[in-house]
Amino acid sequence: MVNMNSKRSESKPTIKRLNNETMQYHTPVLLNECIDGLNIQPAGIFVDCTFGGGGHSIAILQHLNENGKLIVFDQDEDARKNLPNDERIIFVPQNFRHLQRFLRLHKVAKVDGILADLGVSSHQFDEADRGFSIRFDAALDMRMDQRQAITAADILKNFSELQLHKMFEQYGEVTNAKTLAKTIVAKRSLAPIRTINEFKTAVHAVVKGNPQKYFAQVFQALRIEVNDELGALKELLEQTVKVLQPGGRVAIITFHSLEDRIVKNFFRDGTFENTAIDDVYGHRFENPLRVITKKPVTAGEKELKENTRSRSAKLRVAEMK
Ligand SMILES: C[S@@+](CC[C@H](N)C(=O)[O-])C[C@H]1O[C@@H](n2cnc3c(N)ncnc32)[C@H](O)[C@@H]1O
Repeated sequence: MVNMNSKRSESKPTIKRLNNETMQYHTPVLLNECIDGLNIQPAGIFVDCTFGGGGHSIAILQHLNENGKLIVFDQDEDARKNLPNDERIIFVPQNFRHLQRFLRLHKVAKVDGILADLGVSSHQFDEADRGFSIRFDAALDMRMDQRQAITAADILKNFSELQLHKMFEQYGEVTNAKTLAKTIVAKRSLAPIRTINEFKTAVHAVVKGNPQKYFAQVFQALRIEVNDELGALKELLEQTVKVLQPGGRVAIITFHSLEDRIVKNFFRDGTFENTAIDDVYGHRFENPLRVITKKPVTAGEKELKENTRSRSAKLRVAEMK
């Protein structure tokens, strides 16, 4: 395993077992690896951008002393019920794309570490009426933030054939994305597609290969679009370099190649701009980040056996210079 601690790290308590409620809502992946990667100083200010069941947050709190602070974001109100009774924690029920704005609101200018464990929680996936899982029949919703207006059904209803085609191709790597888009457009003109079963019935003739796998890819694409997951990730990354203290760490866990590529490239370059171009004064842009994990950290054998979700998890860590 990569040694991710820098010299300033002190000896750390081991992570206590998380309680059953936390584990039922969501089992945290790469937990020890994240804690190592964040290189937590006990009196620091940390941000968990994706609180969920609070597994990572509780582990961070265990490494903070009474002067430490943890600001946690989750755009899903359901996550609130997992908040521990701990004065050091502040809950921000918002999209992490507004990181800097809400830190400012809480009078926090700089932080010592930022964690994001992307995607949906097991809770969201297991709640039938959230519409994330092909295992159930429910309205095609897929909003992590229920205050948001657009659902998966709206996308299937309103996107053009080309938009649907590109979405399934880029976000789901669906092999017959074009045919799928064409079928949806044809079927929706005959009857509305509002539920998971209506969708499965409408497209069953064009399902390719293993239906489970096929629909998983299709649903991934819809979920990414509904929640603008890649847009939010990019906005988050751009703000990390504005709020991290020198020596502060950013640790991101991704679950598919599109996200991982975005994180990898941003950590390497420190920007999404074209860095080959000098600014108006002829200064070359210098990456404010130092990559800590040259290769992504993945789950070990034990975790892979215990938690299937860890199979696709990749952790990357960078440090503010
Ligand atoms: C994979 S789970 C995190 C699990 C958590 N680390 C734990 O140990 O329980 C992702 C969580 O982040 C939230 N989330 C995803 N994208 C978000 C975003 N852009 N802004 C705020 N919350 C987000 C989801 O609602 C979900 O609860």
